[in-house]
Amino acid sequence: MEKNSTASGFQHVGNRLLEWYKNNARDLPFRQTKDPYKIWICEIVFQQTRINQGLNHYNNFIARFPDVKTLAEAEENEVLLYWKGLGYYSRAINIHKAAQQIMNDYQGVFPAQYDEILKLKGVGKYTAAAVSSICFDGKMPAVDGNFYRVLSRFFADDFDISNSRAFIYFSELAALVMPDNVGDFNQAMMDIGSEICKPKNPLCGECPINEDCLAFSSNKISEFPVKTKKVKAEDLALTYYFVHRNGQFLIRQRKDDFIWKKLFEFPEAIPEEMEEFITSAKIVAHKLTHKNLSIEIFNVNVTSEKIWSDFIAENQYLITDVQGSHEKSFPKPLENYIQNSLKD
Ligand code: ADE
Repeated sequence: MEKNSTASGFQHVGNRLLEWYKNNARDLPFRQTKDPYKIWICEIVFQQTRINQGLNHYNNFIARFPDVKTLAEAEENEVLLYWKGLGYYSRAINIHKAAQQIMNDYQGVFPAQYDEILKLKGVGKYTAAAVSSICFDGKMPAVDGNFYRVLSRFFADDFDISNSRAFIYFSELAALVMPDNVGDFNQAMMDIGSEICKPKNPLCGECPINEDCLAFSSNKISEFPVKTKKVKAEDLALTYYFVHRNGQFLIRQRKDDFIWKKLFEFPEAIPEEMEEFITSAKIVAHKLTHKNLSIEIFNVNVTSEKIWSDFIAENQYLITDVQGSHEKSFPKPLENYIQNSLKD
């Protein structure tokens, strides 16, 4: 579809969104800058976290890694540490690699073109569109769940958002209302989507484009967006052993490509002679996007010095304690377990 908002008859909609944005934009730290590095980090952080919950993380991350070079030169484990609490650690690993890519392939200068930004590790169409439009006057809509919701309601459009063509479809709908200032338009859509056109209890009375909103005028807001497919989460059982002695316990870093790659965890097996030291077991349920985990954690209080040191020697575990564990990133349920072990 051609991007020609004059011909589409919806030009006033984009302008109304810009006008609204001028007066109502949320005052966010990353809105004081056009530094593509900072905008990129903010897009990755806030893709997975609500603004209120992620702001401290974002500020701490930028304070420690203020530019591409600092991030590229940092140790991966330190980057993971600053990501602690945000989850989806593969994103932290990717931004670290992307920073190195910018140093190596772009002489340390953040690329300005959408197609080049898209080549960075971990950067998808949404992020490339957001960064190029906000920082470089690029013209691509930053289509995400907010766009799906606002546009499907505005046009009372029942296109299924779980359809693999939804991204293209809603990009074309966005082009109908998109003004020339795409950076502000994208951010206006983000703000409208999270503050007004909310999934539940939207504040339609305050919406700057409610006059033209077909779902609103036909009282059918709750029917949009249409989503048919639900990805079924897989059940998965994991076992860990919290092997400890005199306040110290054993950990290692996950290397495989399974969930939690690069995070630290407890041993997944113990030798038979250690089983007599098991004092209790606990089952913790934990939900990931596509997995329902059931994690059984055995508490193993190793009172034999010999069995303890043999086990360490044979398995290359690291020895740590609660204090030392603060310097490492663990999956949330293991982190909780460690914190609770303090109370025993
Ligand atoms: N969420 C992700 N990126 C954002 C941005 N630039 N403005 C507001 N909310 C966001």
